[in-house]
Amino acid sequence: MGKKTISNIKEIAKSSKITMLTAYEFIFASILSSCNVDIILVGDSLASLFSGHENTLPATVDEMIYHTKAVVRGAGESMVVTDMPFMSYHINVDETKRNAGRIIKESGAQGVKIEGGSKLILDNISALSEIDIPVMAHLGLTPQSIHKIGGYKVQGKGSESAKKLLADAKRVESAGAFSLVLECVPELLAKEITESINIPTIGIGAGKYCSGQVLVTQDILGMYDKVRPKFVKVYKEIGKEIKETVNIFIDDVKDGKFPSKEHTFK
Ligand code: KIV
Repeated sequence: MGKKTISNIKEIAKSSKITMLTAYEFIFASILSSCNVDIILVGDSLASLFSGHENTLPATVDEMIYHTKAVVRGAGESMVVTDMPFMSYHINVDETKRNAGRIIKESGAQGVKIEGGSKLILDNISALSEIDIPVMAHLGLTPQSIHKIGGYKVQGKGSESAKKLLADAKRVESAGAFSLVLECVPELLAKEITESINIPTIGIGAGKYCSGQVLVTQDILGMYDKVRPKFVKVYKEIGKEIKETVNIFIDDVKDGKFPSKEHTFK
């Protein structure tokens, strides 16, 4: 097929579901692309899951570029989208263009993801679309707004906030977004949004009616057990398996079982 592009993604959504998973480095990107995942997202969740911060706010443009470069080298035919980090698109449209331009130009990503639906965000989406930088929008629970939201809570529950979410979804589509991530949104609202717009929706904690699904790769692999959101399905407890393996290595070394003859040069 060759490298997946935004038109392939829109095409996939017509006949099946879009798959998106996160990666922050080459090896994970290589594994994901060998499984033919449609989109690899270099999420600003790397601030927590790579760097150990409490939330996504500390991620910088330079860090996103550094990690995306590594991901792009392993991404094969999967499309690569990179999160624009907090404060890289919050000043004005010129600064947004400069930062998004750097991300695309220096890292090799094929698109950027931007959270929110305010006037500035809509202007940003239009401005980036005008200079041919594909934008994935992100509504519902937007982790960069954690201090305003006051926690990782389901969004769009009351009728007013549901109406606003639906209206925002239509606005980000009109502004030129090529797809929309819906995070922590009631299933039926996500369904309504998906049926009301013509760009694919990619859900995380937004039920089964979205055009696709995204999860954090470390989450589905059970690599971090301190936080386990309800919407995450842990497919394998790889974290436990890594610990077991490391303990076997330590015991082998302590007991003089490693290295054995087969791992030793004569
Ligand atoms: O930062 C991230 O990994 C994300 C996904 C969870 C959607 O935004």
